[in-house]
Parts: sequence; structure tokens; C-alpha cells
Amino acid sequence: MTDSRDSGERLIDPFGRSIEYLRLSVTDRCNLRCFYCIPKGFKGFEQPEHWLNFAEIERVVRAFSELGVRKVRLTGGEPLVRKGLDQLARAITALPGMDDLSLSTNAVLLEPHADRLRAAGVSRINVSLDSLRADRFQAITGGPLQPVLDGLAHARRAGFSPIKINMVAMAGINDDEFEDMVAFCLDNGFTLRLIETMPMGSSGDAASRHYLDLQTVKRRLAKRYELIPGVMPGGGPARYMQVKGTPLRIGFITPISQHFCETCNRVRLSVDGTLYLCLGQNDRLELRPLLRGGISDDGLKQAIVEAIARKPEKHTFRENPRRMIRLMTMTGG
Ligand code: 5AD
Ligand code: SF4
Repeated sequence: MTDSRDSGERLIDPFGRSIEYLRLSVTDRCNLRCFYCIPKGFKGFEQPEHWLNFAEIERVVRAFSELGVRKVRLTGGEPLVRKGLDQLARAITALPGMDDLSLSTNAVLLEPHADRLRAAGVSRINVSLDSLRADRFQAITGGPLQPVLDGLAHARRAGFSPIKINMVAMAGINDDEFEDMVAFCLDNGFTLRLIETMPMGSSGDAASRHYLDLQTVKRRLAKRYELIPGVMPGGGPARYMQVKGTPLRIGFITPISQHFCETCNRVRLSVDGTLYLCLGQNDRLELRPLLRGGISDDGLKQAIVEAIARKPEKHTFRENPRRMIRLMTMTGG
């Protein structure tokens, strides 16, 4: 069999960006209800018959891997609510050329799943955690904090490395907790990443009401800690600072105050088989009809190459915050 990676096939978009990273949403459902992510009473989840099955997902990931993509992240919704996720993880890590499989999770179900996922080849995890106070956590997410803390402790024992904490920074909600979160991450050997709220769908409006510019947070933290520029392999769009004299790195993900579209290296596959070319734009390729219509492997790769040629230059969350009607759970986080 010829390996197309040897023939140098690569996904390069019209702006010269090399697409090397696929974010794979395995479900749009979630066992929490963060107010900034899922609108109250939301009923618009995808029908199960529209979910790509594992064989279909594997086919798409294989096509991407043959086009030079070596890095995949399992996302959602909450990926751990999809049954048999470790089987999918195993199939993905077994693909030739795939060298980095990671997971984004809210950690509610991490304790029972961590060992199997680790054994299936998931190496790194990101955990959403916006507050360390149980009452506040409950108010933000609708669920209890303790399973998340237990999940994190277990993930550490299971050997995931690094473990990153993703904290959405929100004025009037958790903006008095950054220092506590720094201490928590220092104690546990986690990496901290602060994220600006994005206007994603109607729940995004709720998020944007609490928008906090991370440049001000960075200045505040710099008064308390000695921050030096830090690097983080596989760090993605976060800009990292390190707390001097400690291993702690703090990443600032600033889609609004300082956007990073010029280095975007990713596309997203949603649970219904839609390939979204940009988190903040509607440009897409519907893969499910192609997969279910019997497209060949070469045809599939060709369709992906053509889609990448339509990847938008950037989001316009700042200039045009009302434009984005899709929820994060629909796209995959
Ligand atoms: N703004 C920023 N991040 C969001 N997430 C979901 N909705 C939003 C939003 N409106 C992200 C958070 C969360 C992950 C699952 O999705 O990072 O941790
Ligand atoms: Fe679930 Fe994450 Fe959305 Fe919260 S932010 S509702 S944990 S998908």
C-alpha cells in the first residue's frame, strides 16, 4: 500500500496554514448544563440516526491521517457520555501516522473511564473547571463539583500528562478565583488555561455579558506572581506564561482580545458528520451523505482537500458577535 504521507500530501489552506489537527466531537450531548454553553431547556440535540457510527468516524480520521493529520482530540458535548469511547480511541491510535490522541472532558465520568482511556492511547486531557467552590460550580454547570475533583485525582494516578484545566474567565462569576485556581494547579501539577467567553449561539450571549478581557487578568496575576514567558508543546492557541521558580504554566486563550486565527491549524468534525472549517463561521462540508452514499476513499480525501481550500481566514466574534448562531455543542468544543 502506498502511504500518501510519503508522497508529501498535506492539507494547506489558501492562507498558507497547514491543517494538522482534527477536533472530533463524538456527541453533542452533555451531562452538565453550563449556562454559557447550552441554553436553558435546549432540546435541539441531534437524532441518534444522524450520529456518525464508529466505523464512519474511523474512516474519516483515516482519510485525514493519510492527508498528514497526526493529532486528534476527542470532544463533545461531553465525550464520555458516548458509549464505548475507549474502543474508538483504540481504533484511532492504531491508525498509521497518528501520534497524538487527546480528550477534552468535564471529568464528571472520568474516574470510571480514566484507566481504560489511558490504555487505549489517550495521552493528554483537558478538563473544564470554572470554579473550585461547590455552590458556584453548581450554579454555573447545574452539577456537583466532587465527581470532577475525584475524576481529576484519578486521572493523575492513571498517568495522563499533561493535565490542563480550562477555566472560562467570567466577570462577576469566577473572577475572584484565579489565584485559588493557580494554587490548585500548583498543588496538583496541572497546567492552567484561562479562556475568554465567545458569543456562540444564544447561550453565548449569556457568556458575553460576563466577558472579561484576559489582558487585564494577566496584568493582575503578574502583580502577584513573577510571570516569565513559557512554552508548552502542543499548546495550540494559548499564549503561555510560567510562574517563575515553579513548573506551573498559565495559558491565556484570547479569541476576542487578541485573536490567533493566523496560526489556526485545525478543523472540527461534529457528531452528525459535518466538517466545520472554522469555529466562528458557517463554512462546512457535510460528510455524512458522502459516507452513506458510498463515496470511495479517494473521493473522500478529495472532498476534504477541496473543503480545506475554502477554510475562512478568521472568525469575526468581535466585529460581528451576533453572526454566530451555532452552539459550541453543535460544532464540538
Ligand atoms: N465561550 C467560551 N468557551 C466556551 N465553551 C463552551 N461555550 C463557550 C463559550 N460561549 C468551552 C469551554 C468549556 C468547553 C467545553 O467549551 O472552554 O470548557
Ligand atoms: Fe457540558 Fe462543557 Fe458545555 Fe459545560 S461547557 S455544558 S461541561 S459541553
